[in-house]
Amino acid sequence: MSLLKVGVLASGRGSNLQAIMDASREGKIPAEVVVVISDQGDAYALERARSAGITAVVVEPAGFPSREAYEEQVVAVLQKYGVELVCLAGYMRLVGRVLLKVYPNKMMNIHPALLPAFPGLHGQQQAWEYGVRYSGCTVHFVDDGMDTGPIILQAVVPVLPEDTGDDLAARILEQEHIIYPEAVNLFARGRLEVVGRKVMIIQN
Ligand code: GAR
Repeated sequence: MSLLKVGVLASGRGSNLQAIMDASREGKIPAEVVVVISDQGDAYALERARSAGITAVVVEPAGFPSREAYEEQVVAVLQKYGVELVCLAGYMRLVGRVLLKVYPNKMMNIHPALLPAFPGLHGQQQAWEYGVRYSGCTVHFVDDGMDTGPIILQAVVPVLPEDTGDDLAARILEQEHIIYPEAVNLFARGRLEVVGRKVMIIQN
């Protein structure tokens, strides 16, 4: 099976990027990360990419007159490397129409809560403060809303009485590192079909 070419957009630490790169290197998914792009020049994700021998590119929005112009540059880099699937991994920006047009239902995001609950920033902390008994994480296709696209996979974790917000975030992150590579795997195998709001997982 030929490897699906994945481009990752990341703004920070890059642990989800690492999970996808590891799954690829270990031959667990028929996909390879071919380029990592960050909007932050000091993102640790860039170092993780370079250590893995993967091209890391910084595209800083401040250098462009508009979001469209910035995204056109991002698209140019993605296309240069033949990217077929874009994975947002801790990419702390709303995606605009330029990227969406080129990668409709070909762009995924991971969110640290059980969407549609607690979208936006700090989903783990929001859930902890709200006092829910369970939270988790969601991988979804990206649409023009904030964390609103069709849901691909979710994982649930309990919130324990003694948890701090950080404890909960760590428990959720562990699951993120499992379901994100799995969502990429399903996509790469052609097993995801978007029907309206729903994502069908085609059985083998
Ligand atoms: C992850 O917890 C991810 O779910 C979250 O940012 C973190 C990035 O960590 N994303 C969002 O909150 C998006 N709304 P990472 O850089 O170590 O993968």
